[in-house]
Amino acid sequence: PVPVRVADLLSRMSLDDKLGQMTQAERGAITDPADIATHRLGSLLSGGGSVPTPNTAQSWADMYDGFQRAALTSPLRIPIIYGVDAVHGHNNVHGATIFPHNIGLGATRDPKLVGRIGDAVADEVSGTGVDWDFAPCLCVARNDRWGRTYESFGETPELASSMTTIIDGLQGRSLSDKGSILATAKHYVGDGGTTGGVDQGNTELTEQQLRAIHLPPFQAAVRRGVGSVMISYSSWNGVKMHANHYLITDVLKNELRFDGFVVSDWQGIDKIDGQEGFTAEEVSASINAGVDMVMVPYDYVRFLDTLRGEVAAGRIPMSRIDDANRRILTKKFQLGLFERPFTDRRLTPTVGSAQHRALARQAVRESQVLLKNDGGVLPLGKNGQKIFVAGKNADDIGNQSGGWTITWQGSSGPITPGTTILQGIRDTARSSAVTYDRNGAGIDGSYDVAVAVVGETPYAEFMGDRPAGMGLDAEDLATLQRLKESGVPVVVVLVSGRPLDIAAELPGWDALLASWLPGTEGGGVADVLFGDYNPTGKLPVTWMRSAAQQPINVGDGQDPLFPYGYGLRYRRG
Ligand code: IFM
Repeated sequence: PVPVRVADLLSRMSLDDKLGQMTQAERGAITDPADIATHRLGSLLSGGGSVPTPNTAQSWADMYDGFQRAALTSPLRIPIIYGVDAVHGHNNVHGATIFPHNIGLGATRDPKLVGRIGDAVADEVSGTGVDWDFAPCLCVARNDRWGRTYESFGETPELASSMTTIIDGLQGRSLSDKGSILATAKHYVGDGGTTGGVDQGNTELTEQQLRAIHLPPFQAAVRRGVGSVMISYSSWNGVKMHANHYLITDVLKNELRFDGFVVSDWQGIDKIDGQEGFTAEEVSASINAGVDMVMVPYDYVRFLDTLRGEVAAGRIPMSRIDDANRRILTKKFQLGLFERPFTDRRLTPTVGSAQHRALARQAVRESQVLLKNDGGVLPLGKNGQKIFVAGKNADDIGNQSGGWTITWQGSSGPITPGTTILQGIRDTARSSAVTYDRNGAGIDGSYDVAVAVVGETPYAEFMGDRPAGMGLDAEDLATLQRLKESGVPVVVVLVSGRPLDIAAELPGWDALLASWLPGTEGGGVADVLFGDYNPTGKLPVTWMRSAAQQPINVGDGQDPLFPYGYGLRYRRG
């Protein structure tokens, strides 16, 4: 049994073996693979956009196996565990299936579907060797100014908790099963509640409020047996979470009985004192608070020296080092890494498979929220209508996928194969004629309907904070103005990671569909536009009437443009 094997291994490990297990380095920082065994590194990661060349599933598997072979040359032959941010599919890998970002999944209100998505993601991730996913993000986003709002399933603890089914899918029935990977509940805790929606900011709440709003999804995740928890960069009432012994050890590990391991965020310990780089005090503070593995990610040799020094000086007790190792090694044994350390190549062909893309299309379809449909302009007709399509997000896989796709920040253009929303419309329109013109200049009154696909362009983390305006950009406003002047009914498809400030423009639109960030399967948007699917999506967040209302959440007495849970259907018959 695993506890016996862990105890046996621990009894044979040197201090250096143990400190290495607690250290996670970025793949790009490993200039010589021999370093992995020399320094006994316990884990590697690929940060967003850190990929092998060429960026194929096959070369990921080869890269993983190479690192694993190097790790297994250490005296005790302890395998590494390799982590990535597969936050909406295996989104660093070219050709992978890209699912809607979490905010769209929240709109589906379909926890079973989300569980199946977790299962599919786990297969694609396993097929590239990787054993650990830094997902799901269980933040409860309380201010849409926050750049990570789209990584949230929604603004209520109930909704975010209900979607922890994704953990069942990722981890499978047993971690040792084929195609099971370790999941991470992140970012513990209160990342979505910072004042002003500032990323990595300060969450100013009473303990009662923190427990009521932000803790429940983590409780749900622990109940599902989540294997790891990542600490938030944010502070709680001025104290950095990475140094919060009470919340990490007393609450998470002791009260909630979390038995997996706690990983820091990327250079998360460096930020404890607000200065660049890490100090010995920061290392002690975080390990003593209960962090088991540190995402260094670059200067792992200095980190190990510092950690060794703190242990030697008695500032970190050996019992803490042993506890961290017990937690990490338990998961490695449970995953079967000691028996099967290399990629299961049978799963490599699942990356971007037709079956997974069909599942993603279903998720896109279910995530669409119909917010306005005056005069029944939707659904669009398939027989002989003249349809004009415009907007910068109509024909752009990168824009419709959002951040964390192929690169950390995501990017515009054809970043990975998939179906754009425009292509989805063309494929579904049958005998209706579709004309596309990005900026709408070619419109005239002869069209039956105009579809404007507008909204945000990709961003991730703090780069996406919007402390000022939250409206549409000048390009979108100009496109929409051209369509409006033509007199043709206008359907707006809004591709965005959060509600935007659209109250002033909305009266000029005949229909509005919130598409969120659908990913590679734009056909799911067309399924709703043409009525092949009668929309069921419901708002996962309250939609503000003006950005000045932020933060705006259900039950706070403000007057929203659309309330939490809102979503129209088509009338039938
Ligand atoms: O998992 C992420 C986290 O969400 C933000 N900082 C970097 C980590 C690893 O890429």
